[in-house]
Amino acid sequence: MSVTLTDTGLRVALPDGEAYFNAFWLRDNCPSSFDAETRERVFDICALDGDPVIAAAHVDGDALVVDWQGEDHQSRYDLDWLARCANGAPRPDAAAIPRALWRSDKVFQRFNRADLDCDQGRCDWARALIEDGVAIVEGLADSDAALTDLANLLGEVRPSVAGSYFDVRVHIDPVNLSYTAAELELHTDTPAEETPPGVQFLHCRANSVDGGDSLFLDGAAAAEDFRNEYPEAFELLATVTAPFYYEHDAFDWRARQRVIELDAGGAVSGLTVSQHMADVFDMPQDLLDRYYPAFVRFMRWLRRSDYLVRFRLNAGECIVFDNHRIVHGRAAYSADSGHRHLRGCYIDRGELRSTYRTLFRKTGQTAPKPGTIRAP
Ligand code: OGA
Ligand code: ZN
Repeated sequence: MSVTLTDTGLRVALPDGEAYFNAFWLRDNCPSSFDAETRERVFDICALDGDPVIAAAHVDGDALVVDWQGEDHQSRYDLDWLARCANGAPRPDAAAIPRALWRSDKVFQRFNRADLDCDQGRCDWARALIEDGVAIVEGLADSDAALTDLANLLGEVRPSVAGSYFDVRVHIDPVNLSYTAAELELHTDTPAEETPPGVQFLHCRANSVDGGDSLFLDGAAAAEDFRNEYPEAFELLATVTAPFYYEHDAFDWRARQRVIELDAGGAVSGLTVSQHMADVFDMPQDLLDRYYPAFVRFMRWLRRSDYLVRFRLNAGECIVFDNHRIVHGRAAYSADSGHRHLRGCYIDRGELRSTYRTLFRKTGQTAPKPGTIRAP
């Protein structure tokens, strides 16, 4: 017998061995559940009179055929498709590229703006952003539109605490440190938002000052190393939420974040660090006995020379990076020594991945092995 009915579903023989499928799952995912035009599910399992029960099932060629009790309905499932779904395997995802963790010897991938209008160029760039979390685009025009056009190659600009766009230069009456010439310690942007922005663009329009070097590190690499050395401190920073704020005359943003952000598989997907936007820690003082040493140990760990890439961003370049994974900062500069102007905006990480999946399909690629894409 290649099919065996059970109380809750059925077992079917597949090329890699027998696999079990639950009856609710089978009924809900009958191919007829999905609208051919919109591709959305149009079947409503909750509208059935009772729970779905399998009346009979058999294999017919390369399909599993199921008849349902109390329904005039037969389902036909492709066996290859069932094999791909067996054992709770997630749907194949071109964007599920393992992070290529990097350290201080990293050379960022560079792309020329002119090469990004074609699908293949855009796909390679999106892949670099998913894999490395950072890439530099060269050859941008000195205009506001150049930044919008670049961001729109991957997604829609999404507003933040600073509006849709922000201009990093010395402001009169600054509302945050980035609008001064002071050092900006290593941070991720706008942790006082419920969901801090995903992908950040910083378009360098002018940089003729003394100082102002860019400081970047891979927070996922640093935190994974930290986990190996100090597992208890890591655990605290990955579970306890800390308060962040951004407050001035006309606004008062607050949110709680975990300093270390984990993905569904438990790997580090990002950090939330910003000493200039960390609120007064309000955890119970006896928890702070453990939390503060862990926090300080981790913040010092990030400053180790093992992780930091220090460089000068030049006019016409735009650095694009994952605002959760990549920690960034800036050295102080001398405001009188020239001009420095970075214009920034954000898109969401989900949109980056959506664009990548679509381009991957359009360009007919087969999944490259992680770490095999090199700078063009
Ligand atoms: C910021 C920032 C970087 C820079 O404004 O949040 O990180 O180089 N600026 O000025
Ligand atoms: Zn920043």
